[in-house]
Amino acid sequence: MRTKLVAGNWKMNNTTAQAAALVKSFSERVVSRNDVDIVVCPAFVSLCRVKELLKDSYIHIGAQDCFWEESGAFTGKVSVPMLVDAGVSHCIVGHSETRGKFGKLETPESTIPYFHETDETVNLKLKSLLFHALVPILCVGETASERDAGKTDEIIQSQLSKALAGFDSAELYFLVIAYEPVWAIGTGQTCDSAEANRVCGMIRSFLAQKFDKEVADEIRILYGGSVKASNAKELFSQPEIDGGLVGGASLDAEEFSKIVIAA
Ligand code: PGA
Repeated sequence: MRTKLVAGNWKMNNTTAQAAALVKSFSERVVSRNDVDIVVCPAFVSLCRVKELLKDSYIHIGAQDCFWEESGAFTGKVSVPMLVDAGVSHCIVGHSETRGKFGKLETPESTIPYFHETDETVNLKLKSLLFHALVPILCVGETASERDAGKTDEIIQSQLSKALAGFDSAELYFLVIAYEPVWAIGTGQTCDSAEANRVCGMIRSFLAQKFDKEVADEIRILYGGSVKASNAKELFSQPEIDGGLVGGASLDAEEFSKIVIAA
């Protein structure tokens, strides 16, 4: 039986004071919900403060990204040992906003590459996270044009194969995958629950085939993309969906607590 997991990705929102106020308000509302794994992912600069506030709580702290080298001349980057030191237990990897041309994947006029994330950098980050025993939340998903071209499954399988290259099954027990159709992120356009369930099931079968069934049955597969209190129950009641990665709606304590309760 897989425990549901709900993670809030706060993205580049909230000062540390705002993050503290949000986490206080949220944690009071979910105080007895220890039947769901809850993760909040503030910006790097707020991790320590949020961790301090949650030190007696079962709510986990996640980072939104990491760098794969341990230390060195990598200006602006944060390594996994630094995250461990800050009390982080989870880390998002390969979010569509860090892949490709940040936030504007499908408009040809947008050519400013912010992050240069590729399947190869995702693979290196996963190696560092698993080496340091952090739980990666690996994001995969297709763009609208890939979906329209009937390439959803192919794209996701390619992302998974490259991200997970070089790992063996035993290393992947704690991996969490988030199926995040790019066209559903921050758009208010949620993927139909039956289709989200189908894709999550396809991911599980692919993992069973590539690694083994026992591990594939343990790995939690979340759905992300415009999850709200009003659609969470329907999405989370699908057999292949083990929870959600929530962006916008996790910035509102009441809304996010309702999503956790739905799980
Ligand atoms: P959203 O973002 O819930 O605002 O669509 C989800 C995500 O980016 O993980």
